[in-house]
Amino acid sequence: QSWRASLLWFDPEADGPRPHFESDGLLVTAADAAGVQRVVAVGAYDTLRPRYSDVAVHDRRGRLIAPGFIDLHIHYPQTDVIGSPADGLLPWLERYTFPQEARFADPGHAASVARFFFDELLRHGVTTVLAFGTSHPGSVDALLGEAQARGLRCIAGKSLQDRHSPDGVRDETEASLRDTEALIARWHGRDRLGYAITPRFAPSCSDAQLHGAGALAARYSDVWIQSHVAENLDELRWVRALYPQDRSYLAVYERFGLLRRRAVYAHGIYLDDADRALLARTGAAVAVSPTSNLFLGSGFFDYAAAREAGVTLGLASDVGGGMSFSPFATMRAAYTVGRASVRGDGAAKRGVSLAATDLWWQHTAGAARALGLAWVVGSLAPGSEADFVVLDPAATPLLARRTAQAASLEEWLFALILLADDRAVTEVVVAGAPASHAFTEATPDLHG
Ligand code: GUN
Ligand code: FE
Repeated sequence: QSWRASLLWFDPEADGPRPHFESDGLLVTAADAAGVQRVVAVGAYDTLRPRYSDVAVHDRRGRLIAPGFIDLHIHYPQTDVIGSPADGLLPWLERYTFPQEARFADPGHAASVARFFFDELLRHGVTTVLAFGTSHPGSVDALLGEAQARGLRCIAGKSLQDRHSPDGVRDETEASLRDTEALIARWHGRDRLGYAITPRFAPSCSDAQLHGAGALAARYSDVWIQSHVAENLDELRWVRALYPQDRSYLAVYERFGLLRRRAVYAHGIYLDDADRALLARTGAAVAVSPTSNLFLGSGFFDYAAAREAGVTLGLASDVGGGMSFSPFATMRAAYTVGRASVRGDGAAKRGVSLAATDLWWQHTAGAARALGLAWVVGSLAPGSEADFVVLDPAATPLLARRTAQAASLEEWLFALILLADDRAVTEVVVAGAPASHAFTEATPDLHG
């Protein structure tokens, strides 16, 4: 099959945005020998059409086709936490988040939220996520089972939290590690699915649990790791009290062998230069989560310092601390956070103006690179899996007006980032097939 539209794609392996744009482009996909739908060619319509003259064309002129968005950090069990008020991270966890997560002991509840979660992601053009489950192993079965049924690429893990967690979400050290290993065996590498070893954050894990997580991370070197680091000032004080012997919050994870490639840490607002050098050296990545940081009043991520140190990073919603499933909302917030010249603890940072192509890259090819999936998703490079979105740059009156006035690609993409929402996402293609039916049939589950 092929699609004719304006096309935005990226060099898959570059450590920064290298965008390509074709105003009248053709995207050609086909099944490989194993039956996986992949991009075969991407480029100018006039150049490619003669070579693929026997291939059906979906005419989407006037629309933009871009890689499906990748959300580098999201909590599916917090779908029903978005919109709850909060007095900062720790009170919000106690008051809203842990009670909601306790409900995932019920597999029926987990399955129903997983369905809604993917409907909502697809409606917003997000086709790959690195997701937290709850501490209940069944929450991961529900999520990855649903992703498998839809042919989606998804990485998820059972949250490890054997202390400082209330009844209903606290797990038990030995059982939590056995459950993790069983989930790796059940899901990792099956179809498009992956497993992430998921210590919730240092305060919620005993030394024995972190030690066990590190041992699993060493034994299963292509399994992912996900956690939180240096998000909030109260959290930072707590970590200092719990781990007085460690140089920094990040150093706790280092001591337990949890910094390596395929490790993704959310937030990273309160890192110092030594921490950034450690991230760069180990290849662990930061999931920048700007709407969450604004909502919880956590602080402002220091892009200039992270980039100078060579830290791998990408964008994330961090729903339900995050305020929206929309990649556009996340990219807007990232721009705002980048502009800020303070960090949140009185320290200054350099304000930067992130380019539209950079913001877009951080939520697609940059995020894929952070996951070690550069040639797999996020770029539309030939050979990658056929996950993409079709966007309508005239979806709403102001969006139509401002994109029509743009004098350059940068201005056009910037107007899209600032003004688009789910109404601009007209189609979503997952593994070469329309995923749109999934959200037209969505029925919210309102019980309880
Ligand atoms: N730190 C530990 N757990 C969480 C969580 O659920 N959300 C956020 N934003 N930070 C956390
Ligand atoms: Fe989070």
